[in-house]
Amino acid sequence: MHKIAVAKGDGIGPEIMDAVLKIFTAANVPLEYDVVDMGKWVFDKGYSNGMTPEAQETIETLGILFKGPMETPKGKGVKSVNVTARKTWNTYANKRTFQTLHGVDTVFSKAGITIDITIVRENIEDTYGGIEHMLTHDVALCRRFITRPGSYQVIKYAFEMAKKKGARRITCGHKSNIMKITDGLFLEVFYEIAKDYPELNADDVIVDDLCMKLVTKPDLFDVVVLTNLQGDIVSDLCAGLVGGLGFAPSANIGDHISIFEAVHGTAPDIMGKNIANPTALLLSGIGMLRHLGLMEMAAIIENSLLYTLESGVHTGDFGDKAIPSLNTTAFADAVIANFGKLPAQNAKPVLANLYVTPTIFKLDKNPMLESIDDEAINILGADFFIETNLQPTEVAEKCLKHTLTLFKLVTVTNRGTQVWPKGSVFTNLVSQYGCRFESIDNLPLTQVDILELTKRMMKDFKVCSYELLNQFGYKKAYSLAQGQ
Ligand code: NAI
Repeated sequence: MHKIAVAKGDGIGPEIMDAVLKIFTAANVPLEYDVVDMGKWVFDKGYSNGMTPEAQETIETLGILFKGPMETPKGKGVKSVNVTARKTWNTYANKRTFQTLHGVDTVFSKAGITIDITIVRENIEDTYGGIEHMLTHDVALCRRFITRPGSYQVIKYAFEMAKKKGARRITCGHKSNIMKITDGLFLEVFYEIAKDYPELNADDVIVDDLCMKLVTKPDLFDVVVLTNLQGDIVSDLCAGLVGGLGFAPSANIGDHISIFEAVHGTAPDIMGKNIANPTALLLSGIGMLRHLGLMEMAAIIENSLLYTLESGVHTGDFGDKAIPSLNTTAFADAVIANFGKLPAQNAKPVLANLYVTPTIFKLDKNPMLESIDDEAINILGADFFIETNLQPTEVAEKCLKHTLTLFKLVTVTNRGTQVWPKGSVFTNLVSQYGCRFESIDNLPLTQVDILELTKRMMKDFKVCSYELLNQFGYKKAYSLAQGQ
């Protein structure tokens, strides 16, 4: 019998988790549950990451966490336990499936348009590192990391999943027309991996266009893979297409540990009333059963759920108002009573075992993800981000004093828009500039050269930060300013 960790969560978490586990028990699902301490009340006891050391040990040993929603305590300096868990255990792929559920009325179900979309969202990187600083009183900065190995992990997972699912199409959503380096890297990795899957129809679409198409023609899409923030937004949009967050399951997949949870939160407005809809958590649990290779159990429970929904049974948050709603426990009982029944539409076959049941292993050191690259890396200069309320020409005049024999001043920018050597007086300024120095004749520089320049710049300005301008082989690895 497989043992998994269960964290019931906060708010409606315990109510919906109890309902789901009741369904699992009635179906004789061969799982044992080790209930662990995680959530707001654990924060309140003084554990800053929202889980006890014993809970962490149990989850790292068992490899599977089935969790209810958890509240993030309000206030500065407190990180979400949900995000911490996903990042700590490198659950790099967040998979959310959105399917038409008969009995859950939407504009699309009424129009006879069937939706079956899987969003795979990168789960670790992007702006979700939460690495943010106020650089000046007026200027906040958030660092956005997109890495080659991180992109590889999630995109490879998406392709494997699409192949096993027999997907019609796999699409990369991105904004690489604007973020050419970060989203450009994600897209580049997507097409590199696509070469290994000639049987799949791989394409890409700019994320704003993707949103428009999803709400007008959602049946065009099958598997969509995106970076973290864009994936977060697009997956909630998709939840709306199939009836809302109450129907959105989610799996956070890693090589070692995977976490299964509903997309929705703790619903504090309805907690303790036994009226919450357990469908999303149940669908997440069904995904977990498939992940563990329990294909038959998953099909029985999912068909029973679909039958139940199709027959008009509902909790208070959806469904036909003319039919009285059931509470959480009664809804679970209705699903149990329908074991063995098949819905008239979209009945689920017992799927082939798509996933290899994860092996539990112990690590003695942190894995280093590194792609092999023999290209020479040269430093060609630096971007200095400085605080000043001078006009662009005055900033440039001061910077030009430091160009000497090694450096040339290439551009001065404000909020990414060039304001020197060319610019417009209509460009509004904030008290933070970017000053780009490159080496004369593209000669490679050392870090000490940059340090010397930094010291000189510091005599004239408050230097908030700087970034090296790298060249990989012959390719400049930095963006141009708007208007440069
Ligand atoms: P929420 O998803 O908890 O609630 C939004 C609305 O949807 C509320 O009206 C709620 O009653 C309703 N709702 C949500 N789930 C429902 C269900 N199963 N059945 C019926 N109605 C349902 O989002 P909100 O209010 O923004 O967040 C509340 C708390 O949850 C916050 O502390 C937030 O940090 C946390 N949260 C946790 C997540 C997780 O653990 N993965 C995800 C999202 C939010």
